[in-house]
Amino acid sequence: MLNQSFLKQAFHALSQHKMNVLLTGGAGYIGNHTAVALFEAGHRVVVYDNFSNSDRGALKRLEQILGAPVTTIEGDVRDTALLQRTLTEQQINAVIHFAGLKAVGESVSKPVDYYANNVQGAISLLQAMQAAQCKTLVFSSSATVYGDPKYLPIDEAHPTSATNPYGRSKLHIEEILSDLSASDPSWHIAALRYFNPVGAHASALIGENPNGIPNNLMPFIAQVAVGKLPQLKVFGNDYDTPDGTGVRDYIHVMDLAEGHLAALKFLTQQGGLHTFNLGTGRGYSVLEMIKAFEAASGKPVPFSVAPRRAGDIASCYASVDFSAKQLNWRATRDLKDMCESGWRFQQQAQQV
Ligand code: NAD
Ligand code: UFG
Repeated sequence: MLNQSFLKQAFHALSQHKMNVLLTGGAGYIGNHTAVALFEAGHRVVVYDNFSNSDRGALKRLEQILGAPVTTIEGDVRDTALLQRTLTEQQINAVIHFAGLKAVGESVSKPVDYYANNVQGAISLLQAMQAAQCKTLVFSSSATVYGDPKYLPIDEAHPTSATNPYGRSKLHIEEILSDLSASDPSWHIAALRYFNPVGAHASALIGENPNGIPNNLMPFIAQVAVGKLPQLKVFGNDYDTPDGTGVRDYIHVMDLAEGHLAALKFLTQQGGLHTFNLGTGRGYSVLEMIKAFEAASGKPVPFSVAPRRAGDIASCYASVDFSAKQLNWRATRDLKDMCESGWRFQQQAQQV
């Protein structure tokens, strides 16, 4: 039987220009969800991943959602020749570059790995794209490039800085993209600065399933709720925020995925380099997140207050006016949806 996703895709393919889109790091958390959004909008996705932080199981579940196979190339983004061959053979029109390492703490202890994977990986990709004459790129940047906020909400004109090698790798890549765009106006590039992506696809088949003990709040809370971890440590309750705990702009990963679709559409009409925040514009504290997750799951999330985590800031949330205006895109899913979908995925992940 044809599933709903397949029918949606067939409908969209007829009604709009269909692109072949390469997703580097497409087997990962955000790449997987973006693949769903692209497919449903009628595009063909090709995944390119070295599976250093993912596995083929996630792609199998992605194929289950789509009701169709996904062309997958196993490779490292530093393999320029393989990338170039892939771009040509798969007739790729645009690339979304998710591939990279993303753990802030690990980047401090393994800086060279981070610069090699992230910066060298991006350079290799740009060389391959240049050689294949494929010049449309969406890049996964991060709100971490804003450093300690000088003002809130953070707009795209906010000064940038980095406090760790991960953040610096993102900044370096943004600078390279800026130089490239200045040197050759035929590139169409969007740098998307993600705030805090959370939650999962409604099917609960794909979601965030980090190896080992999670670094980030939401997967940690989910693992406490499901009984895999005993309790959460709240890193500091003496920040200058309404309840003293850190405030972040959590965005549903499907909203984020749709932001990529909007950016691709924008790039079909606009050349040059464009930078956008992808957030909701609304901040929630750690305590608010715990409460929302408890309500969504019906499970208690025991916690204790611990000292502040090194490098953390008090509050961080986006101004989304520019993205809304330019991309005609806004996050629509609320905190309840983020927690409920995250919880459904966590329960499913326990059983796999
Ligand atoms: P993820 O680790 O789930 O996915 C990244 C994917 O890239 C993985 O499948 C991994 O195997 C692959 N990969 C890593 N290095 C590679 C290489 N050298 N060659 C080929 N494949 C490689 O991470 P994610 O959460 O989906 O993040 C995607 C992107 O978004 C990353 O660039 C990350 O820095 C950025 N980002 C993530 C967040 C977040 O909170 N998740 C926030 C801001 C920015
Ligand atoms: N927190 C806890 N306990 C935990 C984990 C987190 O109290 O066990 C708190 C943090 O102190 C912070 C908030 O929960 O106040 C969110 O922390 P996360 O680690 O989930 O997210 P961050 O905002 O610190 O960083 C994340 C990614 C970065 C990215 C940034 C902005 O890890 O890579 O979002 O997109 F750059």
